[in-house]
Amino acid sequence: TKDKNGVDLVTLQNPRGFSAQVSLHGGQVLSWKNERGEELLFRSSKANSKPPAAVRGGIPICFPQFGNRGSLEQHGFARNKIWEIDNDPPPLHCKDCDRKAFIDMLLKPSEEDMKIWPHRYEFRLRVLLTSDGALKLISRIRNIGSKVFSFSIAYHTYFSVSDISEVRVEGLETLDYLDNLHHKERFTEQGDALTFETEVDRVYVGSPHIIGVFDHEKKRTFLIRKEGLPDAVVWNPWEKKAKAITDMGDEEYRQTICVDGAAIEKPISLKPGEEWTGRLELSALPSI
Ligand code: BG6
Repeated sequence: TKDKNGVDLVTLQNPRGFSAQVSLHGGQVLSWKNERGEELLFRSSKANSKPPAAVRGGIPICFPQFGNRGSLEQHGFARNKIWEIDNDPPPLHCKDCDRKAFIDMLLKPSEEDMKIWPHRYEFRLRVLLTSDGALKLISRIRNIGSKVFSFSIAYHTYFSVSDISEVRVEGLETLDYLDNLHHKERFTEQGDALTFETEVDRVYVGSPHIIGVFDHEKKRTFLIRKEGLPDAVVWNPWEKKAKAITDMGDEEYRQTICVDGAAIEKPISLKPGEEWTGRLELSALPSI
């Protein structure tokens, strides 16, 4: 199917009734629903889906830059581009891929793109819905040029939550973080699990492979598992910032928390011919 701007959308389904929707605009997951049809990702009612706008919600991919940490546009360009379907991807070790509930996408620079970021790469992204209903995003980025380049990446995941005041994030206690609200200065997390009562915009460095997002009201736990992605971003704009964001409703900050698997603090460097792989797996479980 196509969206109203003519962009291809692909729907993935599993036998248990989970589904996901992926757009070639940004290679972005726009929707992920459980077996009861409940949406697990937030998307703003004001989201602008007309390329090259970045879509506010789902899982935009920030590449090759995170935020404004470089000379490119905010969060890099991958989320603004139209990706191709990759019909013949190189073999990938993937234990859940036998049922074919996945899509392979590819982003390569055009000559025009090379003027903005002069590096030849192939970015392959597989989005997969497992038989349990977990969502996997596997990225492979290869340097097909003749000089070294480096990049940052984040899977900017907007989880859907009942109310931000009911949310707790576990797994980041005692870690160091770079605070975007304090000139990216480094602090150490002191408290227990993270709860939210004001704007938060942080990059937790060297975070564990598994992070939990607990929603007390919905009695739902999201588990984020990641490989090759040492950092974790936690972002909620809160009231004042949300009002300033044109493609987000004034009160919508309450319905989401962004927790991203990412590689930001130490950019990934690829020599000619080298390939990097990063894996993110999201699951949504009823809390006990
Ligand atoms: C976060 C950044 O990850 O993304 C924030 O750390 C930023 O600083 C936010 O405001 C949203 O970015 P954008 O470009 O999608 O509005």
